[in-house]
Amino acid sequence: MRAYLRYVLLIIICSVCYSVNYLPLPRVRKETLCTTKLFRYYQNVCTVSYSFVWWDWPRWEKEIDWMALNGINLPLAFTGQEALWQEVYRALGLNESELEEFFSGPAFLAWNRMANMDKFGGPLPQSWHVNQLYLQFKILERMRAFGMIPVLPAFSGNVPRGILRLYPKANVTRLGPWAHFNCSFSCSYILDPRDPLFLQIGTLYLSEVVKQFGTDHIYNTDTFNEMTPPSSDPTYLSAVSRSVFASMTAVDPNAIWLMQGWLFFSDQAFWKPPQIQALLHGVPLGRMIVLDLFAEADPVFTYTESFYGQPFIWCMLNNFGGNNGFFGTIESINSGPFKALNFPNSTLVGIGMTPEGIEQNPVIYELMSELAWRKEPVNLAKWVSLYAVRRYGGMNDNLTAAWKLLFTSVYNCTVAGYVNHNHSPLVRRPSFRMRTDLWYDPADLFEAWRLFMEAAPSFMTKETFQYDLVDVTRQVLQVLTSSFYQDIADAFANKKMPELLTVGGVLVYDLLPELNRLLSSNQNFLLGTWLERAQSKALNEREAQLYDMNARNQVTLWGPSGEILDYANKQWGGLIEDYYAQRWGLFVQMLVECLDRGLPYKQDTFNQAVFQVEQGFIYNGRKYPTKPQGDTYEIAHRIFLKYYPQKIHKNKLDWANNNWW
Ligand SMILES: *[C@@H]1O[C@H](CO)[C@@H](O)[C@H](O)[C@H]1NC(C)=O
Ligand SMILES: *[C@@H]1O[C@H](CO)[C@@H](O)[C@H](O)[C@H]1NC(C)=O
Ligand SMILES: *[C@@H]1O[C@H](CO)[C@@H](O)[C@H](O)[C@H]1NC(C)=O
Ligand SMILES: *[C@@H]1O[C@H](CO)[C@@H](O)[C@H](O)[C@H]1NC(C)=O
Ligand SMILES: *[C@@H]1O[C@H](CO)[C@@H](O)[C@H](O)[C@H]1NC(C)=O
Ligand SMILES: *[C@@H]1O[C@H](CO)[C@@H](O)[C@H](O)[C@H]1NC(C)=O
Repeated sequence: MRAYLRYVLLIIICSVCYSVNYLPLPRVRKETLCTTKLFRYYQNVCTVSYSFVWWDWPRWEKEIDWMALNGINLPLAFTGQEALWQEVYRALGLNESELEEFFSGPAFLAWNRMANMDKFGGPLPQSWHVNQLYLQFKILERMRAFGMIPVLPAFSGNVPRGILRLYPKANVTRLGPWAHFNCSFSCSYILDPRDPLFLQIGTLYLSEVVKQFGTDHIYNTDTFNEMTPPSSDPTYLSAVSRSVFASMTAVDPNAIWLMQGWLFFSDQAFWKPPQIQALLHGVPLGRMIVLDLFAEADPVFTYTESFYGQPFIWCMLNNFGGNNGFFGTIESINSGPFKALNFPNSTLVGIGMTPEGIEQNPVIYELMSELAWRKEPVNLAKWVSLYAVRRYGGMNDNLTAAWKLLFTSVYNCTVAGYVNHNHSPLVRRPSFRMRTDLWYDPADLFEAWRLFMEAAPSFMTKETFQYDLVDVTRQVLQVLTSSFYQDIADAFANKKMPELLTVGGVLVYDLLPELNRLLSSNQNFLLGTWLERAQSKALNEREAQLYDMNARNQVTLWGPSGEILDYANKQWGGLIEDYYAQRWGLFVQMLVECLDRGLPYKQDTFNQAVFQVEQGFIYNGRKYPTKPQGDTYEIAHRIFLKYYPQKIHKNKLDWANNNWW
């Protein structure tokens, strides 16, 4: 059966193996690619918003080169799809205001496409469409030149409200609100896939996609992403997937539907075996590929008899919202793909990486990509020693030791089902309900930091080392912020004003400014870069303001009123200074006032005040540096002298230089 499915896939997309054969990679890799792990998938539908949104062509080119070097042969190619939707909807008779109230701004398109939200951050300027189309043509050309199969978008049923004006009888359901949004920017309209209009719109769109972008026959669309279907009747669910697939094959008889399996994880109460099987079996076996999206934490294939016979790709998600915190589940990453391969009647056809955001934790992506060339799990201890050598181009005992420590602690999360979503008090709105739990012993992190500092003088010329020194110091300061937070809470609870002033003062006036200086000293940790890239997409002042708002809002409030507050938090120079540190300053100030006047602390009052700070950041109009400032070593060394904990007790640290007491 397994062999048969692979055979079917090979026949249908014979161009796949053909082009894979011509991948400009060493011969030894060809065999692995075409046998056990046919596909190497890359991207989550959110990556395009969390990471790629403002990219220009040189940055894209670099990413596609990275994909080629890592053997990626199945990437998403989602750029520019709104430009084609605009044409299709205009052809159907929608007018400009109906389009404007539908598309969200650039930073939120991923969730507009998934029918989660609309309008917010929009309307999309015409210049945006032109720019994105230009990029998409170059992206596709480059991906195909490397023999990759770009996965193109297809119709999910998500339609503008205006469709109801044109087709009043269409079976359109209005969804409930998504996340913490209300219906002013949410509650999307979904066309029932069984309605003949679905086939009409779906084929119009896919024809346009194929006409403009060409095709390699694999299309992605996600129905029911983070929303509950109107019926759990298996007959209905099968009819839905049958209709979606029919709208693809009507345009491309060789179509294969690639679907993210996220829904099975995110709504487990709804998706029981009969529902999953029904949805999957609405499409002929071998004509759908399911991405087991978060397989390192929740491998869906294990409890669905390998997706009931549909081919699937084992994917590592690892990161939510592009947060910077160190994180990894090296043990399950290392063993997962091989367990999937050896699973009884496995339908595994590839492995992949599906991070919501990139540009963090490079070591984890390095490990995952390498597994594609392996026949069995790597020896992690050996692998990480060699990683330290490869990364800095030289052997150093202290760095090898540092990496072993990081790998066996912060990168070895074994908490079942742990969702890596940085909840450190540093990057969350202050309150007395913050989480400070860690899955590792911070003593290992501190020791790794010390070893990095030891090695620093001889390695500072290496860019990779500079990055890692900033990153490891950043992680330490993140952990220390939790400790300061606990001290602040203790001082307040025990009504100890001098202690409150001291710990609060050190956090707000020293630690956070030092962290800001540290991050500002490295090109890869600058708010200015994110904002400048957004600005560079604008043709006039109005567009510049819109993009600036999009860029700043996504990494902070995430919604007009903080609907998904701090989900996409980032530790960047500039953002620490004007956003996180300002919030902590306000929190400490409010606690001091409460203590002074003998009043209780009220979270609601604080929330209202802090919202002004948060919104104030979004509209402060400040230009942030796009070039690093200051000497990384000097800054990191100074931080080390001040903050390296001499003794570590359980949840309590002793500072090297506690001269502020
Ligand atoms: C689009 O159509 C709606 C509904 O008829 C109407 O209210 C609106 O004014 C129209 N907008 C434009 C720009 O024509
Ligand atoms: C319209 O679609 C909903 C859900 O998609 C379904 O429950 C309902 O039966 C459909 N109505 C008609 C008239 O087909
Ligand atoms: C694997 O498939 C074979 C043939 O369809 C079946 O007899 C067997 O029970 C399956 N094994 C498992 C563990 O599902
Ligand atoms: C490692 O650090 C120690 C001090 O802890 C130092 O004496 C030693 O020279 C360092 N080793 C290397 C290879 O740099
Ligand atoms: C990761 O942690 C688990 C559980 O504590 C342990 O069994 C395993 O050896 C660790 N792996 C590494 C590489 O340290
Ligand atoms: C819906 O959310 C928007 C944006 O946050 C807000 O301005 C508006 O007041 C809310 N509407 C209702 C009815 O709550």
